[in-house]
Amino acid sequence: VEETYIMIKPDGVQRGLVGEIISRFEKKGFKLIGLKMYQCPQELAEEHYKDLSSKSFYQKLIEYITSGPVVCMAWEGVGVVASSRKLIGATDPLQAEPGTIRGDLAVQTGRNVVHGSDSPDNGKREIGLWFKEGEVCQWTPAQAPWLRE
Ligand code: GTP
Ligand code: MG
Repeated sequence: VEETYIMIKPDGVQRGLVGEIISRFEKKGFKLIGLKMYQCPQELAEEHYKDLSSKSFYQKLIEYITSGPVVCMAWEGVGVVASSRKLIGATDPLQAEPGTIRGDLAVQTGRNVVHGSDSPDNGKREIGLWFKEGEVCQWTPAQAPWLRE
């Protein structure tokens, strides 16, 4: 089954949006398999965003992500990667549709409250990067038969 790495960025934590954001993934019907609060070290931020290292905003991005604790999550489900990106909305919150997390809760790209992996391969890669072995839990939700026929 597919897995994705979702992270509430420091602005989401500071603004008291942790419960609201987790709730949207929970209500959708995806399975939470990893969750922790974490002060991201510089090196991990750089590794996570290495594909963006040539961008003009890269330095600001690293400062942003390391500016306070984040909430790291691993979510599992059929189609969870693409669906999570839809729940999150466009990178620029002003372009993100109402009803999406960024569309409802943010106003600027540099403060867009949440991260979501952009492919199943990156989902696996990022969960491996942010979680240690034993921090991801396998379990069977009681509601499973009520979510999928
Ligand atoms: P993530 O889910 O966080 O990876 O966002 P994304 O996939 O929608 O966008 P992308 O991977 O292209 O960029 C990663 C993050 O870098 C964005 O979420 C923003 O926080 C930041 N970012 C991207 N473009 C800009 C920009 O033009 N200016 C600034 N300040 N930040 C940017
Ligand atoms: Mg991205």
